[in-house]
Amino acid sequence: MSMRINPSILSADFVNFERDLGRIANADLVHVDVMDNHFVPNLTFGLPMVQRIQEVSPIPLDVHLMIDDADRWAPDYAETGAFSVTFHAEAASDPVGLARKLRQIGARAGIALKPGTEVGPYLELLPEFDQVLVMTVEPGFGGQSFKREMMPKLTAVRAAADRTGLDIWLQVDGGVTLDTIEVAAENGADTFVAGSSVFSGGEPADQIRMLRERAAA
Ligand code: DX5
Ligand code: ZN
Repeated sequence: MSMRINPSILSADFVNFERDLGRIANADLVHVDVMDNHFVPNLTFGLPMVQRIQEVSPIPLDVHLMIDDADRWAPDYAETGAFSVTFHAEAASDPVGLARKLRQIGARAGIALKPGTEVGPYLELLPEFDQVLVMTVEPGFGGQSFKREMMPKLTAVRAAADRTGLDIWLQVDGGVTLDTIEVAAENGADTFVAGSSVFSGGEPADQIRMLRERAAA
């Protein structure tokens, strides 16, 4: 299984995104956290910024929307040319309809599950999605510690995804470090979001390489 490392620019320098994007050229995708201070108690940036990041980024964007009213906004993010757009299960009134719209625009469609969100109701919807994002922290902030108690949720999604026979990516987001990436991989994750461990350790490209090696171990 190929292991993808998606650095989160939530931990990059907000006035030097272009420079910091250049420091993660060996990443698979750039994880872009959009927060609206309603769905989560923090605010980052919105559509105009994501459009600009898309224009200057050498690697494709993996947009993670932590916003209310995903039905209204997610398609616009797909229209920027983002590779994938992930919205939270609670934020869409019609998750399947929205996923279909995102795919129609040409983006991969993702659904995100907060720590308190039950996975059961979404398992039968998996064929409608290209990826599932399991949060291993409460969404809103970088630098929190990895919730190991989410591992059963990962294994449940992995088993259901494998049953579909489709190549559904299983993403883990929050507290992913050299110490936690292995257990996430063991439990079925294949795509790893890492913010502080990439940007606040040593050289970001070295951190990415080490994370990828550790995930594949
Ligand atoms: C948190 C965001 C994450 C965040 C992860 O709400 O969704 O993508 O950047 O940061 P770390 O890797 O520092 O936990
Ligand atoms: Zn994220």
